[in-house]
Formats: sequence, C-alpha cells, structure tokens
Amino acid sequence: MKFFIDTANLAQIQEAHDLGILDGVTTNPSLMAKEGIKGQDAIMKHYKDICAIVDGPVSAEVIATDFKGMVAEGEKLAALHDNIVVKIPMIKEGIKAIKYFSDNEIQTNCTLVFSAGQAIMAAKAGATMVSPFIGRIDDATWDGVALIKQIVDLYNTQGYMTEVLAASIRTPLHIVQCAEVGADICTCPLSSIVGLLNHPLTDIGLAKFLEDAKSL
Ligand code: E4P
Repeated sequence: MKFFIDTANLAQIQEAHDLGILDGVTTNPSLMAKEGIKGQDAIMKHYKDICAIVDGPVSAEVIATDFKGMVAEGEKLAALHDNIVVKIPMIKEGIKAIKYFSDNEIQTNCTLVFSAGQAIMAAKAGATMVSPFIGRIDDATWDGVALIKQIVDLYNTQGYMTEVLAASIRTPLHIVQCAEVGADICTCPLSSIVGLLNHPLTDIGLAKFLEDAKSL
C-alpha cells in the first residue's frame, strides 16, 4: 500500500518525506485555506513547492463545478508539473471531466466518494484514483473500512484499473485496516503516519537496553 500525506503544510510534507516512506500528497481547498494561501498565483506556486519536495502524485483539486470550468482549471493544474493529479468531485459534471482527462492522458483523483455505486462510476469514467472518505463515513456511524473492502473487491472482480485511495483517515488503526482489506493507497495526516511507530513495549524495552548498556 502506498502512503500519501493529506496536507498542504510544507513542513509536514518535508517531515514525512524525510522518513523515506512517502509516495505522494493529497490536498483539498480546506487544507489549502488552512495554510493561508490566497490568490491564483500563490495557489499555483504552492503546488509547485509541494512537487519540489515529493517525487510522486500530488492531488490538486478544481474549484469549478461545471464541465468546461473543470477542464480549463484542470488543464492549468496539470501543466504545472508531471506529478499533478487533477482532483475532481463526484458529481455528474465531474464524471464528464474525468472521462475527458482520461482520454487526454491526464491523471485524476475522484474525490468525495461515499458509496460503491459512485466508485463504479469513477472507474467507468477512467479515474486514475478514487477517494472514499472513510473517516467521514465513520463519523456518520457507518463503516468506512467496509466500504474500502467493498470497492477493492468489486474493482478486482470487474478488472477496473482505478486505484483505491482511502481518504479521510483519522487514526493509525484506519491505516492498518485499509492495508488489510487491500487499499492501493492511504492518504493520512502526519499524526496517523507517525502514530504507526508507537508501542509502549518498544519504549520500555529500549529504556532497559540503554540502562543495561551502561554496564558494558
Ligand atoms: C483527501 O483527499 C481528502 O480531501 C481528505 O482526506 C478529507 O479528509 P477529512 O475528512 O479529514 O477532511
């Protein structure tokens, strides 16, 4: 399973990159706004800055919600860097835009996916990646990981090439569960990635080793 970081914060992207396990980045308008990025030039520069840190797919989301607007915006984003993946919302116009980009060999990430039916539509349109939001599903007391498994299984059954990108990860346990059910990618906050490292027995064991090492 590939690891993406789900942030527009350059310091966090650099920290995850420095671990040596980072495969890509996802952003969205809320994450960009959180970094205080304002204006078209600043947005474009920020995506370029991210691409300069990480040599892997970087999802950049369109704001337009009509086909022509999404195509115009997506083409500008894709022209920034070979690693840009145009992120398109799961709406009717978005499906048309995904098909357009697929026909023109531009990578896409279909976002805001909450059902298997939506995932089928994204794959049929030729999305490179599909992003089911498992944390938001759990927040609504449904089962986000069960949806990831359902989509992975049906993509395998149908032979769809679209990669399943588990998004809206809240915890290290989500990452483990997504790996178990065969997600191709998980996109996570830095805290969840680093959280995978933690175990109290590791801390206790290391403290004892270091203590005993003093007598050597
Ligand atoms: C990533 O592609 C999604 O936009 C993101 O994971 C959503 O996460 P959230 O539900 O924590 O906002």
